[in-house]
Amino acid sequence: MGDRGTFWLPESASTVSGEVDALFYLTYWISVVIFVGVVAAMAYFVVRYRRRSESDVPPNVHASRAFEFTAIVLPTFLVLIVFTWGFRVYLKLNVAPPASYEVQVTASQWKWDFIYPDGTVTAGDLHVPANRPIRLVMNSMDVLHSFFVPEFRVKQDVIPDRYTSVWFEATRADTFQIYCTEYCGNQHSGMLGTVVALPQDDFDAWLGQAGGGGLAPEVYGERLFSQNNCNTCHSVDGTPGVGPSMQGLFGSERALTTGETVTADENYLRESIVNPMATVAQGYAPAMPASFGALPPEQINALIAYIRSVQ
Ligand code: CUA
Repeated sequence: MGDRGTFWLPESASTVSGEVDALFYLTYWISVVIFVGVVAAMAYFVVRYRRRSESDVPPNVHASRAFEFTAIVLPTFLVLIVFTWGFRVYLKLNVAPPASYEVQVTASQWKWDFIYPDGTVTAGDLHVPANRPIRLVMNSMDVLHSFFVPEFRVKQDVIPDRYTSVWFEATRADTFQIYCTEYCGNQHSGMLGTVVALPQDDFDAWLGQAGGGGLAPEVYGERLFSQNNCNTCHSVDGTPGVGPSMQGLFGSERALTTGETVTADENYLRESIVNPMATVAQGYAPAMPASFGALPPEQINALIAYIRSVQ
């Protein structure tokens, strides 16, 4: 393994890639051993027990209990090891560390756009600090796409009308290829990008130079919040109004009129904006107009970023 890559896997350059590779090679070597064993036994039996004459009748053989027991228990055990280990790696891949640097990703036919916390916008190239966890919150403007960086061993579908996320921590400063791995139209294969991982100082310098291109998502969202008169019904200081206050909303547990409880994450907020009747908060009338569903996706992203910031 190491950093150079192998016949099976490309170089590895993230904090999780080592574990992903170890799991891959475990299943790989188990498969090799079983394949060689099965083929060798088959070849041996073909020769050893071949029919020697027209009148040759094999004896009636009863299976051994011990053999059957082993043939059931051993594979079950192997599968459980792979499952348990795989599940642990799956969790690690899916739960971003709390202090992650967050970038919003928008996929569209056929490009990747990135919005940084200060409002900087880049297309195609994703600049990140190396040796720091990066969380990407992704959605698509049109069809299904998939974000894939082989060296980081991360791959995640990017879906219209829903947020998905992925995180990684580059273990060295370098550039890495981004691929789209979901067929998304006739220029799918050209939907490429680059992760530019920089030492923290260089990243800060880059951001200082590139910054100021746009509004920070939560600043833009704050503007939209008052432009769309959201503040008429939703306070930002905890005062209840026609609708719930936005203060401390993000990440909290919300009781619904149905009696269910949900966590107010990006997808919950998005649904509450575009399809407000789907989830009505307990203690409030279903008074939210459905017209906000017509807001363009980047405005919904900004509103969510703003609501998140109201703590
Ligand atoms: Cu986007 Cu394939």
